[in-house]
Amino acid sequence: MSGFAQLTARLRLPLVAAPMFLVSGPELVTACCGSGILGTFPALNARTTSELDAWLGQIQEALAAAPGAAPLGVNLIVHRSNRRLDQDLALVVRHRVPVVITSLGAVPDLVQEVHAYGGLVFHDVATPRHVEKAADAGVDAVVLVCGGAGGHAGTLNPFAFLAEARRRFAGPLILAGALSTGRDILAARAAGAALAYMGTRFIATREARAPEAYKHMLVEAGASDIIYTDRISGIPGSFLKPSLVRAGLDPSRLHERPPGDIEAELARGELRAWRDIWSAGQGVAAITDIPPVAVLVDRLEAEYRSARDELCGDAA
Ligand SMILES: Cc1cc2nc3c(=O)[nH]c(=O)nc-3n(C[C@H](O)[C@H](O)[C@H](O)COP(=O)(O)O)c2cc1C
Repeated sequence: MSGFAQLTARLRLPLVAAPMFLVSGPELVTACCGSGILGTFPALNARTTSELDAWLGQIQEALAAAPGAAPLGVNLIVHRSNRRLDQDLALVVRHRVPVVITSLGAVPDLVQEVHAYGGLVFHDVATPRHVEKAADAGVDAVVLVCGGAGGHAGTLNPFAFLAEARRRFAGPLILAGALSTGRDILAARAAGAALAYMGTRFIATREARAPEAYKHMLVEAGASDIIYTDRISGIPGSFLKPSLVRAGLDPSRLHERPPGDIEAELARGELRAWRDIWSAGQGVAAITDIPPVAVLVDRLEAEYRSARDELCGDAA
């Protein structure tokens, strides 16, 4: 059995709670893994490498005491702008973190270091060209970040991206973008993905480190409230229009502003992208409450099973 198959056999549902800047902390990860799904967080959410060390210790201690808990994953930004990469990677190796999710750079040396202690590397991509680079680096699975996803989303339709990726990578594919329900997880599996990757849905949970107003905005929002723009962070991403309005920006006139201009305006008002301008994917219409993670995962599992039974019934 491959390392990836061994990992998925330990999951109650084929689901990853995706890493989210400022949102995913030890509480969310512990609750997700404790509920039987892969819980993850960006290493940079810990302010320093020593805080990351403390978080990993805290999460691993809690999971050791939770029978049947799923493994955890840490997201590393592999880019020269991340000055902490070497230190954070050394810590991930020391804690033998079961899954490392790399973003931006797929590096063979890093993959080998993680494989050496028996860990797996998932690499997050938004274009077919990056699937090729990930395959060359020897990663264990590729996360396809499709159009409509939260954060720095891609633009490809999930069916099109799965077909493109399949031509370039023989290993497991993980599907991301606007997935919010158990039925969506089943749909991702049916389309050929090994796992579903859900971000935005987990912001609207009790354990997420997001302001209450952000969580309530997700409950109120529909897909037309999401704007895809490079004006906020310099890279195209999905943001909640009502959070722009709250910060004094006019979403309909963003394109008139030169890149970087908004950052300066936000800084004058002491506002920041991600902290005050909130990101979300187009799957928000299916978010109607802010439950604890355990309640959400129970519901996702019930929806997944009932959708599967319904389809199996149709096929019979
Ligand atoms: C608020 C927010 C912050 C995010 N931060 C990160 C991050 O730090 N690293 C990363 O690899 N992806 C990040 N993402 C992307 C998610 O990991 C995931 O790909 C995406 O949320 C999936 O789409 P969905 O939100 O529609 O479910 C972020 C997404 C959101 C909504």
